[in-house]
Amino acid sequence: MYQAVYTGKLSGNGVFTKKCQHYFEEKYGFKKTLLTTSCTDALEMCALLCEVGPGDEVIVPSYTFVSTALAFVRQGCKIVFADSMESNPNIDAEKIENLITPRTKVIVPVHYAGVACDMDKIMEIANRHNLLVVEDAAQAIDSYYKGRPLGTIGHLSAFSFHETKNIIAGEGGLLGINDERFIRRAEILWEKGTNRSEFFRGEVNKYGWVDTGSSFLPSEVISAFLWAQLESLDDIQTKRKLLWERYFEGLQQLADKGYIRISEIPNYATNNAHMFYIVCRNLEERTGLIQYMKEHEVLAVFHYLSLHKSEYYKSHNKDIPDLPLCDMYADCLVRLPMFYELTLDQVEDIIEIINNYYTKICS
Ligand SMILES: Cc1ncc(COP(=O)(O)O)c(C=O)c1O
Repeated sequence: MYQAVYTGKLSGNGVFTKKCQHYFEEKYGFKKTLLTTSCTDALEMCALLCEVGPGDEVIVPSYTFVSTALAFVRQGCKIVFADSMESNPNIDAEKIENLITPRTKVIVPVHYAGVACDMDKIMEIANRHNLLVVEDAAQAIDSYYKGRPLGTIGHLSAFSFHETKNIIAGEGGLLGINDERFIRRAEILWEKGTNRSEFFRGEVNKYGWVDTGSSFLPSEVISAFLWAQLESLDDIQTKRKLLWERYFEGLQQLADKGYIRISEIPNYATNNAHMFYIVCRNLEERTGLIQYMKEHEVLAVFHYLSLHKSEYYKSHNKDIPDLPLCDMYADCLVRLPMFYELTLDQVEDIIEIINNYYTKICS
C-alpha cells in the first residue's frame, strides 16, 4: 500500500489493479477480470452486460444476500425465486426448469459458503433454453466444482472482498468474464461509459462517452491492499481449513445424535473454508443457542432472511412463492466465528460451549 501511496498514482486501473486482475486470470483461467468496488457493483455490471430490462425474468435463489436480486431489480427485471436444496442452502438445480418461461433471460446460482452449486446441471438447462448464467461467487474464492474454479463456469461471475470474506479489501469485488463477447463492453461500463481503457492501451487516440456505465473501479489503495492478501492466499486458506476441520471434528458427535446438521460438502465441490455453519432443529433452539453463546462471549450469527418474504419483494409482487427449504435455513442456520486470527484454542472453547448448550437443553 505504501508503494501505491508513494507513486502518487492512486486512482483506479493502475499497477496494482492490473497485478490483481492478471493474478486471477492466470491462476483461475478467466478470459478477463475487472476489479470493482464491491460484489454488488460486479453484479450490477453483470445485469448491464446481460442487457436485461422490464419484462425479463431472472431466476435467483431466495436464500441469498439482497445484492444478488437487487442488481437485476435495478434494471427493471422480475425476480423469480427458487428454493434451496435439502442437503445444503444452494439453489436446487432440479427445481429451476419449472420456473423457466419465454421471458426468462438469466439464472444466478449462488455458491453459498463457497460450496459449489451443481453447475453441470445448471449450465445444461441454461444452454438448452438459451439463457445466460451469472455465478454469484461472493463467498467462493479459491473453490472448485469438479476441478473447475468457481466463477469460471457461467458466462459471468461476481466475487466479494468485503471484510467478512477469505480475501479482503475492506470493500471490494471482482467481475469475472468467461465469454469474450462481453469484454469490450465491460471495460466501457467500468470506466463511466467511456472507452478510456482502449485509449490507455493506445488503441484509440482519444476517448469519449460511448455507452452507459458508472465508476465501478476501485482506487489503487484498495487494489494494493488486496494484492497483499493475494500474496498470502495459500497461508490464509491453510489456516481457515485447519479451523474448519477442527469445528467439523468437534461437532460431529452432536450431529451423530441428530441435534444439529453440520456443513455438507457434495462430492463435486471443494471446501474453501469460507464459513462453518450448523443447522439447528428449529428456530427456538437456534435462538437459544445464539443467546447462550452470547452469554459466553461468543458472537454467532444467523444469516439470510428469505428474500421472497422481504418487505420490498412483498410490496412489489402479488404472488409470493412457497419455498420451505429456504425458510428452514433462514430459521435454523447459525454461522460460527471464522476468521484468520481465530485460534484453535478458541475453536475448542466454542465447541465446548455448543456441547454444553445441548447437554443443558437435551438432558
Ligand atoms: C452471496 C452474496 N452476494 C453478494 C454479496 C454482496 O457483496 P459486497 O458486500 O461485496 O457487495 C454478498 C455479501 O456478503 C453475498 O454474500
